[in-house]
Formats: sequence, C-alpha cells, structure tokens
Amino acid sequence: MNSHGLYRGLTNYGDQEFARYLRRSFSHSTGRSAELLDRPVVGIATSTSDFNNCHRAQPELVEAVKRGVLAAGGLPMEFPTISLGEGFLNPTAMMFRNLMAMDVEELVRAQPMDAVVLVGGCDKTVPAQLMGACSAGRPAIALVTGPMMTGRYHGERMGACTDCRRFWARFRGGEISRDEVTEVEHSLATTAGTCAVMGTASTMACVAEALGLALPGSASAPAVHADRLRIGEATGRAALELARSGQTPADIVTPASVRNALRVLLAIGGSTNALIHLTAIAGRLGIPVDAGELNEISDRTPTLVALKPTGEYYMEDFHASGGVPALLHELRDSLELDARTVTGQTLGELLDEPRPWSDPRVVRPVGDPVRDTGGLLWLTGSLAPRGALIKRSAADPALFEKTGRAVVFSSLEDLAARIDDPDLDVEPDDILVLRGAGPVASGMPEAGYLPIPGKLAARGVRDMVRLSDARMSGTAYGTIVLHVTPEAAVGGPLALVRDGDLIALSVRRARIDLLVDDDELARRRAALPVSDGARFERGYRRLFQDHVLQADRGCDFDFCLPPPTL
Ligand code: FES
Repeated sequence: MNSHGLYRGLTNYGDQEFARYLRRSFSHSTGRSAELLDRPVVGIATSTSDFNNCHRAQPELVEAVKRGVLAAGGLPMEFPTISLGEGFLNPTAMMFRNLMAMDVEELVRAQPMDAVVLVGGCDKTVPAQLMGACSAGRPAIALVTGPMMTGRYHGERMGACTDCRRFWARFRGGEISRDEVTEVEHSLATTAGTCAVMGTASTMACVAEALGLALPGSASAPAVHADRLRIGEATGRAALELARSGQTPADIVTPASVRNALRVLLAIGGSTNALIHLTAIAGRLGIPVDAGELNEISDRTPTLVALKPTGEYYMEDFHASGGVPALLHELRDSLELDARTVTGQTLGELLDEPRPWSDPRVVRPVGDPVRDTGGLLWLTGSLAPRGALIKRSAADPALFEKTGRAVVFSSLEDLAARIDDPDLDVEPDDILVLRGAGPVASGMPEAGYLPIPGKLAARGVRDMVRLSDARMSGTAYGTIVLHVTPEAAVGGPLALVRDGDLIALSVRRARIDLLVDDDELARRRAALPVSDGARFERGYRRLFQDHVLQADRGCDFDFCLPPPTL
C-alpha cells in the first residue's frame, strides 16, 4: 500500500482504506493528472504577504521551484505559512519567530510531503523555518528570497538599512534637514528582497548555506537577479533528490556543521541576532552552542567579508564576488570538511570544485583580512552572569576598554520619554543602560541600538557604550553590548543598576562588570518589587512570556526543545 507522496500520513477516520479513497477523491478535484498525483511530493512552504515587502518576489521564485520539482519527476505542492515582515510587527517580529517555527513544524509534519522547500528571507523567517524543519524531521532545503539591489541618492549608493541609520543619525545631529531625510527614504529600499547589507537576513542566509541546509551559492543572489530563479529551479530538483534519499536536517546539522556556521558568521562580520537563531536551530536537535567555543573560534577566525555595516560593500557585490563558496574556499583550512550538505556531498567534496572568481576587496584573502579576529565576542561578568554579546567589528576600538557612569532607562517607554530631554544628566563618557527589553519583558525588540541622547548628538557625538537586555538590528553599528543574560525582568543584575554606578567594559578580557559592592547589591535586590512586570493575560503572548528561554538558549520555547537524552 502506498504510504508516500499524497498518501503519507492519512487523516484518521478509523478506516485507512476510506481515508485513502477520500484523499484521492479530493486530490482529483485539483485537476492534476493521476500520473502527477502518484509522484513523490515536494511541499513548498511559502511566506508571501503584503505585510512583508522583503518577500515580494516570492511568487516568481516559487514558480521556478515548481519547474525544478516537475522536471525532476516530483509533484510540487505549495502551501502558505505565517510571514514575518520585520518592520510591520508589534511589539517585535522576534515575539512571533517561535510561532512561525511551530506553524512550519506542524504543517510539514501533518501534511503529506516527502520533502519540503522552505522559502523565506526576512530576518525571523529563515530561523523560524529551520527551527521548524529540524523538529519536523522531514527532508528539507532552505531557499532564501535574496537581497535587494542598492539604490542611489544624489549619486551615493544606498542600501537598507545601514544607510537608513546613518542618515537618521545625521538628521538627529542636525546635519541634514527633515526634507532631506524624507527624500532619502525613497532611495533606501528600492527593489524586492531582503536588506542589502550584512544584516540579520543576509547573515542567516549565509548561515543556512554554511550549515549545509541550502544550495552552494544560494545565499547571496539578489532577489531580482536571474541567478535567483536558476537557484530556485535547482533547489526544486535538489528537494526531490532529498525526498528520494530521505536525508533530514538531523543528518546535516551536527556539532561540526554548527561550528562551520559559526566560523562563517564570524568571518562575514554577521549579525548578533544570528547567534540567538543559530543557538535555537541547533537546540532543536539537542546541539548546544557554547559561548566559550564562540570566543575561541572568534579569536581564530579573521573577518574576511567587508560588507556594511562593518565595511563598505553590499550583498550584490558579495554575490558578484563568489558569495559563500568563495568565502568557504578562503576558510578551507579551518573548516570541518566532512560535514554533509543538502547536495548529498560533503563540504570537502564541494570545495574540491574549482574556486569561483572573487574580488579580494569584497572577500578578502586570509592573509589580508578586514580584521584578524571574528566580529562577535561573548562577554561575561557580574553584570551578565550568563553572558552578553558585543559586535566588536561594528564597535569603536577606542571604547573597548571603558569604565563609565551608568545612565539608566528602566523601560522602552522611559527611553523614548527622556533620551532627548535637554536636562538629561549625560556625558559622552557615560554608559547608557536600558532594561526591560529582554525576551520575557517585551519579546526582545531591536532596541539595543540606543539613540545617542539628543543633546550629545547635537555636539557631534556619534558613538557611546550602550548596554541592554535587548537585541540590535544586524544593520546597526556602534559600541553596543546586547543580550545581557539573565534579563532584568527575571532578576538579572541589570535590574539592580542605578544612575551613577560604575560599569566596566573590557573587550580584551571579554568582561562586563557592575562595580558595586555585594552588600549594596543585596540591599537593592531585597528592595526590588515582587512583580516581574506587566504580563499578558491570555493567548499566544501569554504562552510566549511563560515559556520563552533567555538569549543564551536561543529564546526558544522550553517545551520545543527535544527531551534530554540519558
Ligand atoms: Fe526584511 Fe531587513 S526588513 S530583511
């Protein structure tokens, strides 16, 4: 009896023969021939939405995937999932990543498909899809929508959204007028696709490729480039091969492939968010991402890709320069080459292919890196007992060893109300502190890029040490300490910081410390209010607050992790 393709996982009516009969009957109503309906099924999980500009070109890409599946002898079956457009969700898209992961997991498992193509792109969609696919246990391959092309403003090349922040900072500093910054708006995001820089979406595309879950070279092709459609078609073909081989994400995502992904994340100067997402993806398969290992790899991995926000280039340049395969060739000596990939080949076998042409200004040779170390560093110390993260590649080295006076904002609302107050007691050498922006408190928004206080911006100050339990957009830059864990809302020491306390940051020693004696901290802790802040009363938001883990566990839900093995 056929238990594959459309006859896999029959609906339970207590009569299997009837269930098969019924499924056949309804399948015929789609107008597909019996020959097609008997083929192996490749599901195509799509995430098109009018609220997700980054996915605007997905319908054409999905058609390319279908061509590939049909040409290889399979039956493509497209189905929708939740879509998360980064700038269109309140309070933050991060709150819904786990919801999308559950949506993808359950629909891949519940519907009859032998393999699935996951078509995503915007920041939270690719992590959600990979988390879901890892848990669903079906053969799966990722296909990103691809980045935007750059635009032009008065002859200057622009791309979302590092340049958005740069121009906004200039506006806040009084360098350009409101009319000018409004005019710039039309040049920042000019085509379909994900942000044009090495933000979270681009980083996760590269991470998916480095993990072995996407085709070689697929991370970087722009959304509107013909290469993107060719990659779509090839992904459809590859999905059918996966359906035939039965290879699942658990066969591909291993401690070795996770370390390879970390090396790539560091070498591209990738987004801080990617560490949370990679932790969550690997966590679905019981693979821990160790902070000590991150620092060890970071100290030995040079930053080789010079894209904004850490360099001057954009994703279209990276693609024209060989993309991830060119980078992997450069990193070859430090990679674990026996890691498997969705192609059926190991990483080593893929790297035995000829090296693509590469522009050494965009993908730098190991002997001439952007910097000698990786972009990210995990900090620990009395202020962050379970850690915090700094993107040193986007920070000002002059602020790496800094002791400063805390200027504390106790919530996002407090920050918005006071940051531009002319009477705010703040100087450039102070350290701005934000709490109440962690996963439990508020879904962990990208609020860690605290604006420079208005009165300092007007004096030309462009960077200060800023510290929070929030995240930061991958397109942002500055000397910013993020993901302070545990967050203030669950009693982390961040809850105890007061205006005027001294905080010491040391990138050299990978430390972040609150210089207040233990007795005083104990007094402050005893005086903390018992409540941990406003709580949602019902529905998904209540579930989120009750079950979300801290940043060092990838902000996944505790009940979504695999049961511990003995
Ligand atoms: Fe979608 Fe940046 S907003 S990738």
